[in-house]
Amino acid sequence: TAVPATAGPPPGIVNVAHRGASAHAPENTIEALLLAARQGADMVEFDVRETRDHALILMHDTTLARTTDVESVHPGRAPWRVADFTLDEIRELDAGSWFGSAFRGTRVPTLREALRAMSRTRLGLLVEIKTPRLHPGIERRAAVELRRSWDGPLVVQSFDWDAMRAFHRLMPDVPVGLLGTPSPGELRGLAAFAGQINPPYRDLTRDYVRAVQALGMQVFTWTTDDPGVMRRLGSYRVDGILTNWPHVLARL
Ligand code: G3P
Ligand code: CA
Repeated sequence: TAVPATAGPPPGIVNVAHRGASAHAPENTIEALLLAARQGADMVEFDVRETRDHALILMHDTTLARTTDVESVHPGRAPWRVADFTLDEIRELDAGSWFGSAFRGTRVPTLREALRAMSRTRLGLLVEIKTPRLHPGIERRAAVELRRSWDGPLVVQSFDWDAMRAFHRLMPDVPVGLLGTPSPGELRGLAAFAGQINPPYRDLTRDYVRAVQALGMQVFTWTTDDPGVMRRLGSYRVDGILTNWPHVLARL
């Protein structure tokens, strides 16, 4: 099926800021997303999970411990799983101090806030749905929010390929990306619903990239901050590169 111009990524090797410009601002925050635009990224990647009351928020880890001050605010609630806290509780947390004192008071954004902030830029989104099995129904609720609040370039990806098969049925015009490295024999079956195959860059060869693209899919690979590696991936003709340093990739 033809993908509308707004659904997929822009043409050329797409410069994707991993968790926002996460080398210079705390990952998965509005600050990191907007900084990516200033650093020359074409798209931002971020991670989505659900709170106990089914609010969609940006958070990479299963728990809040690494990227917020939850341990000191709620010392008795280990292991501080995202899915055990309400949105109101998470909104009270500081999601910036762990990264640097200049970011003290930064809040965990909701998906809606991230979409609103990014709609003021020209960037596209690579939205990763994190461990959908821990958040049953997250594909459907994410589709509702994306449909309501985003009309720019968009790809949705996950390590859970079944969840992406389900998401494709919910939003057939939005390309889905499969994180990981399917065997060459699996690619043809996956091409029935996937728009991208997104392996770690160490797994890639020129032939693998060619095999994916021959089936009409793209390759967005992750995650490197090394200009030499970026050049090599360019020579493999990948479609997109994820980096914490979008300004470095933008200069190449
Ligand atoms: O898009 C690839 C990358 O985001 C997957 O790894 O752990 O950074 O979410 P991770
Ligand atoms: Ca991710």
